[in-house]
Amino acid sequence: MAEAKKVFIKTYGCQMNVYDSGRMADVLAREGYEAAEAPEGADLVVLNTCHIREKAAEKVYSEIGRLRILKERARSAGRDLRIAVAGCVAQAEGAEIVARAPAVDAVVGPQSYHRLPAILERARTGGPAVETEFPPEDKFDHMPPVGTAAPKRGPTAFLTVQEGCDKFCTFCVVPYTRGAEASRPVARIVEEAERLAAQGVRELTLLGQNVNAYRGAGPDGAWSLARLLSRLAALPGIERLRYTTSHPRDMGEDLIAAHRDLDRLMPYLHLPVQSGSDRILKAMNRRHRRDDYLRIVDRLRAARPDLALSGDFIVGFPGETDSDFEDTMRLVETVGYAQAYSFKYSPRPGTPAADSAAHVPEPVKAERLARLQDLLDCQQKAFNAGMAGRTVPVLLEKAGRRPGQLIGRSPWLQAVQVDAPPALLGAIVDVRIVEAGSNSLFGALPGNRATMRAIA
Ligand code: 5AD
Ligand code: SF4
Repeated sequence: MAEAKKVFIKTYGCQMNVYDSGRMADVLAREGYEAAEAPEGADLVVLNTCHIREKAAEKVYSEIGRLRILKERARSAGRDLRIAVAGCVAQAEGAEIVARAPAVDAVVGPQSYHRLPAILERARTGGPAVETEFPPEDKFDHMPPVGTAAPKRGPTAFLTVQEGCDKFCTFCVVPYTRGAEASRPVARIVEEAERLAAQGVRELTLLGQNVNAYRGAGPDGAWSLARLLSRLAALPGIERLRYTTSHPRDMGEDLIAAHRDLDRLMPYLHLPVQSGSDRILKAMNRRHRRDDYLRIVDRLRAARPDLALSGDFIVGFPGETDSDFEDTMRLVETVGYAQAYSFKYSPRPGTPAADSAAHVPEPVKAERLARLQDLLDCQQKAFNAGMAGRTVPVLLEKAGRRPGQLIGRSPWLQAVQVDAPPALLGAIVDVRIVEAGSNSLFGALPGNRATMRAIA
């Protein structure tokens, strides 16, 4: 038998890229590729890239520079190392990547991952191959089942249910790199969730660029995300559900009600607002006002009082004044976030905001970001500190750094470190929180009945 080929996949950016990398591994496994732990010695390296901000995209070119040296070394040793660029930089830059970095053999956009073997074959015989079309067929229909490369071993998994975005926020490349909103059919999602549950998955995070805009074909017409969640909540084995990322405009009544009705839906929601200023929200084409967002948060909290919120913020969007920025600070104070991501505005070629004449100077952006991050850090610390002394259910996910220690997640997505036997991996146990750090909680097993049941 021929020696197995080895592929090393490096993932940048969001959770959808993490999911996609797994699915590319599934596609390549069918072609006889095994996973390599490092690019050294691999026959193929796939860079699954992110284009959301300038820094993210630049990282890719420096990585290709390092791989070029490995490729030359491999060639002098009589071996072949092929380099493929996938993900959103691939989609946005296409053939320019090969022009700028001739070491690259293949460029493949996110909608063409099912065609990866054919693209690589074309590159082998005819030089660099570039594929960034949005093919008419659904890539998921042409992929082997999830877990073909490596059946899931940990108890948590991502599952893409929706891709693309029709919102066209003026700062964002996603509508161009991931295309129009498209939802996977209910039956295919249920099938994949069942397969993951059989592989030991207990917690599923449904993914989509606009996941709450989900409208997938169901047995009786199009289903909303709320309906999909309640279907998945009925699956044996799946004990926790999450979804990300949501847009405020798609936070429908039934989805808010799902937070009240579904115990398995975790009380944590990533709901980006980007800015607290109506003027900037309008310039961003967010299509909602500050008050609309605050009202949605109130309704969500009425439905699920212990709901923790997470968000994304951009500071220094073109035209943002001091007073606009203060509006953002006040919104953050009003909402109170458990966790959040914040960024300096980064002009992205091809997006409307990049052409603005009113760019905010870099030092102003830096100062605003520092102030916002201080506030968000304080809120995160306060949220975590509020857990001390409480007993919370924790899904134990993996071994900790110290022997005898496991790491898990609380319902609010906090990392929890706890001394516990490895037999408890994959179980949800009650943990008493003894200490709260800013990034993780430290807990102890109270030796209660839940623990004993899980051990038995
Ligand atoms: N500049 C800065 N941040 C951006 N994001 C998206 N595009 C940009 C940009 N051009 C942020 C938004 C989004 C998150 C994924 O990345 O906050 O919600
Ligand atoms: Fe980008 Fe806006 Fe779409 Fe989110 S909703 S992916 S920020 S365009």
